[in-house]
Amino acid sequence: MSSPTTTRDSFHSRLGFILAAAGSAIGLGNIWGFPTQAANNGGGAFLFVYLIVTILLAVPALYAEVYIGNQAQKNPVSALMQACGHRFKKTGRNAGIIGLVGAMMMLSFYTIVAGWMLAHALSALFELFGIIDIANWLSTSSTLRNIIFTPIFIVLGAFIIHQGVHAGIERWSGRLMPVLLLMLIGLVIYILQQDGAQEGVALYLIPDFNQVLEPKLIISAMGQAFFSLSIGVGGMMVYGSYMKKGQDIGKLVLSIAALDTFIAFLAGLLIIPALFVAQHAGQEVFSEGNLIGEGQLIFQILPSLFASMGSVGLIVSFSFFTLLSIAALTSTISSTEVPVSYLVEDRNINRKHATWLVSAMVLIASMILIAFFDLLFGLVIQLLTTILQPLMSLFYFIVVGWVWQRGNQLTDIAQLQQDRKLKAFGFYLRYFCPILLIIVFINVAF
Ligand code: PHE
Repeated sequence: MSSPTTTRDSFHSRLGFILAAAGSAIGLGNIWGFPTQAANNGGGAFLFVYLIVTILLAVPALYAEVYIGNQAQKNPVSALMQACGHRFKKTGRNAGIIGLVGAMMMLSFYTIVAGWMLAHALSALFELFGIIDIANWLSTSSTLRNIIFTPIFIVLGAFIIHQGVHAGIERWSGRLMPVLLLMLIGLVIYILQQDGAQEGVALYLIPDFNQVLEPKLIISAMGQAFFSLSIGVGGMMVYGSYMKKGQDIGKLVLSIAALDTFIAFLAGLLIIPALFVAQHAGQEVFSEGNLIGEGQLIFQILPSLFASMGSVGLIVSFSFFTLLSIAALTSTISSTEVPVSYLVEDRNINRKHATWLVSAMVLIASMILIAFFDLLFGLVIQLLTTILQPLMSLFYFIVVGWVWQRGNQLTDIAQLQQDRKLKAFGFYLRYFCPILLIIVFINVAF
């Protein structure tokens, strides 16, 4: 049990929370996951459904998650336990543990992909110095490369996390994100001027409405939206708990969601036209009617884009993949914080030990994924994003809407404060969100 002597670390300001939460949200999900999924699911139709799901379900779920953490001021396992009240204490605890498992699942594959980003950044550097053999090896996927770069990334993350919330997370998050944003915008402007780009823009921006009701597309878009906003594994809950009570969570959540979605949108506007530019230049992007190598898509497309820029391209490539590695780092920090905060507060393990313990577990899990890559990699991603994260969100809706203090927490507060907007939102969270989520699930299952 948590010792009363533990003082909790916390963000020193609202901005601290915004930077950390945006750092968690913006990551490989935006720049690797979103464009890959959009390209594989009809472009515009995917974007359309993604935006709708984000507004209708993901933003409210993010609100609920941050809200639970903020009210409880505890780690996700204890927070959910408290939110579920005496009667459903066990259920709350179990849900907290499931979230924790989700965070570990996320870390197990995310660190592998982040390792790819590191390898590509280094590859550009080696090429810049004319060491072509090593550059080529670094930019070609292999098991050995995974075995080397995944641990490097995990250790890097652990170093930052064990410094603690304030020193570690607040300082790192957000500083470099504006640079990433500017770079994305620059790249989009560049690609849109190349031959063939228009076809990609049309595919991306004009939805084919025949596809928007396809269950597979809807569930993929929903999974991607939950993943991109870091919902359902407790990362945002733990950040909410490090923020002082009494903030306008609605506003915070909306601004984080808007920024995250804008970056995903830009990444799509870069990659999908780039795909057509590459095709126009004679590169093979489809094989047997399907897009080339699922998770490898951006690594096939971006290098040829950078190469088309001449020698400047190497510097652009290095900067871009370095920024992506950093974006990945700030995302893994929030997931790692979930088990670490639990171990520190509920198991009385000191922060340093907890961090290294969790990192060691992540390392083992990721090595298992590497060993059985074809079998496990896609499966873990799918289980996490299309089942665990949406189910946890459903749980949050039910907790905030129904269980907490045996009534609707949000409408109770609203009544106290006479806030009609909040009251309407409480109603929406209580009825509409869970029902809509269940409908999506039923639609997919049958
Ligand atoms: N949202 C992060 C991204 O888009 C991934 C993430 C998922 C981070 C779950 C924390 C928790 O890359």
